[in-house]
Amino acid sequence: MDNHHNITARPRNKFWFAFFVLFFFWYLLIYGSDWSSLPGLSSVSRQQQQQQQQNPIESVDNRQNSLDSISVNPKSDDDVAKEKNASVVFDVNDNSIENVTVEEQKTTKNNEIEDLAAVEKELEPLLPKQDDEDEEEDSVVKKRRARKPCAGRYIYVHDLPTRFNDDYIKQCKLLNKWHDMCQYFANDGLGENLGNPQRLFQRSAWYVTHQFSLDVIFHDRMKQYECLTNDSSKAAAVYVPYYGGFDVARFLWDPYNTSVKDADSVELFRLLRSRPEWDAMGGKDHFIVSGRIAWDFHRAGGGDDEWGNKLLLMPESQNVTMVTIESSPWDKNDFAIPYPTYFHPSSDDQVYEWQNKMRRQKRRALFSACSLRAIRSLGRSTSIDSGCIPVFFHPGSAYIQYLWHLPKDFSSYSVLIPEGDVKNKKVSIDSVLSRIPSSKVSAMREKVIKLIPSVIYADPRARLEKLDDAFDLAIKGVVERVDSLRKEMKEGRNYSDEFDSEYSWKYYAFGTTEPHEWDNYFKRYR
Ligand SMILES: *[C@@H]1O[C@H](CO)[C@@H](O)[C@H](O)[C@H]1NC(C)=O
Ligand SMILES: *[C@@H]1O[C@H](CO)[C@@H](O)[C@H](O)[C@H]1NC(C)=O
Ligand SMILES: *[C@@H]1O[C@H](CO)[C@@H](O)[C@H](O)[C@H]1NC(C)=O
Ligand SMILES: *[C@@H]1O[C@H](CO)[C@@H](O)[C@H](O)[C@H]1NC(C)=O
Ligand SMILES: *[C@@H]1O[C@H](CO)[C@@H](O)[C@H](O)[C@H]1NC(C)=O
Ligand SMILES: *[C@@H]1O[C@H](CO)[C@@H](O)[C@H](O)[C@H]1NC(C)=O
Repeated sequence: MDNHHNITARPRNKFWFAFFVLFFFWYLLIYGSDWSSLPGLSSVSRQQQQQQQQNPIESVDNRQNSLDSISVNPKSDDDVAKEKNASVVFDVNDNSIENVTVEEQKTTKNNEIEDLAAVEKELEPLLPKQDDEDEEEDSVVKKRRARKPCAGRYIYVHDLPTRFNDDYIKQCKLLNKWHDMCQYFANDGLGENLGNPQRLFQRSAWYVTHQFSLDVIFHDRMKQYECLTNDSSKAAAVYVPYYGGFDVARFLWDPYNTSVKDADSVELFRLLRSRPEWDAMGGKDHFIVSGRIAWDFHRAGGGDDEWGNKLLLMPESQNVTMVTIESSPWDKNDFAIPYPTYFHPSSDDQVYEWQNKMRRQKRRALFSACSLRAIRSLGRSTSIDSGCIPVFFHPGSAYIQYLWHLPKDFSSYSVLIPEGDVKNKKVSIDSVLSRIPSSKVSAMREKVIKLIPSVIYADPRARLEKLDDAFDLAIKGVVERVDSLRKEMKEGRNYSDEFDSEYSWKYYAFGTTEPHEWDNYFKRYR
């Protein structure tokens, strides 16, 4: 394999280099009318740099600016100031970089970024990857990128002080008053390996994962994401690796005053606002993932003994996309992604194997009602059957929660029996379920089994090749949301502020705030 690669690499490089030069001239032709805005040319790979030095293009400008020269990590105030000043960098497929000053670009920047992204998207399958790095690069990453190019889904990760993430893990003994949480941080947040008791599971891939561990699991998955960038101007969204769930967990059970409970979220937003990345969209391209339910960040009153902190109520949170494991139906800015389950496959095959195991399993009961928070149980097992068809008693349990992860045709994979009807004994659960024809039941079961990859988090130390897991779908959801906010801002419009937040649940689920048959479920006294 390697030999073969070496033999073909050279001529291919020449071809691609010629292609690159042509592309470059074409690019200058289109974007180069204002030459003053193209002060520097540079390249990323050493090979390309050498080639450029022997090339007449060089004479345009000889200043070499490499990616390394753009510090994007928060270091000192000095760094921040420099960064603000310095440059916006466009990276055309990592091969040529234009370094353009902010002042000169302000008016056209957005257009160009979009046009460039479009060009990049078109050319990505054609343009060469950097060969030096290619050889070292994980082949799964290559395959993933070939299947789904990075253009339009790059993520920039904020480099936060450890106070906002790792330090909470060091305080794991404080995270739960009654229970030592430290064991759950083993294996990149997956917890201890479960093994395979009674051969219920598979040999690997099962862990004793805590339901509130998503902060760290998500961050660790992000570290392996195949489309990271250090250039925030190129990023589709900005991830803020703040473990908000662990932050608030420290103060839930004892009487702490509100200034203590809110200290880190206040400080976090102060820090984010001071960073140049915030200015691009007033934080509207930022997102935070907190592995607890929205209500823990929604302190109702000002009293010290009220539950939770006010993370979701702060002005900055109205711009940032806040991702939790259960969102509020009445909030515009928080979105739910699935709870972490026990199942963390490290390959597609482990997922297929589990799906097949579920298919083979005989169901003794037609339906086994999963818990109300059924999504958690799609992968969590033993007491609860995996692959069971969820029965919901409230659309708020899943349908309007996991919008990025579950299909909109709810009845294709689940049953909704209104809780009021059950309480008033208007219907019996048994009779509703037994009336569903068995062919429909089989179809639903198959659909549920197909949904398994969408609601589980792969092992952060590995990658799935073909399947998208809950993390991938979350990124997709965030990127689409930020894209639409970006578009709105560009058009000077404000759709997302135009509807009453009371109707957020139906605006996001159905794209309208028109009356809906579920309105009764979401009425509340204001
Ligand atoms: C930023 O640019 C201005 C002029 O454009 C200059 O006076 C100032 O020193 C620069 N600041 C830094 C930190 O480079
Ligand atoms: C290009 O970017 C680098 C790093 O930010 C900066 O030091 C340099 O002054 C910039 N070049 C020009 C010509 O603006
Ligand atoms: C971003 O910069 C850091 C520190 O210089 C480096 O370790 C990392 O590999 C870079 N990431 C990407 C995607 O270029
Ligand atoms: C809150 O509690 C902390 C630590 O106990 C204390 O230092 C601080 O003064 C208190 N703040 C208020 C406003 O009571
Ligand atoms: C939120 O974004 C808007 C731009 O859409 C901006 O004007 C506002 O200052 C931002 N809010 C905060 C707290 O930064
Ligand atoms: C959008 O509208 C809301 C009020 O509906 C307003 O507070 C906000 O500043 C507006 N944002 C922009 C960017 O116009």
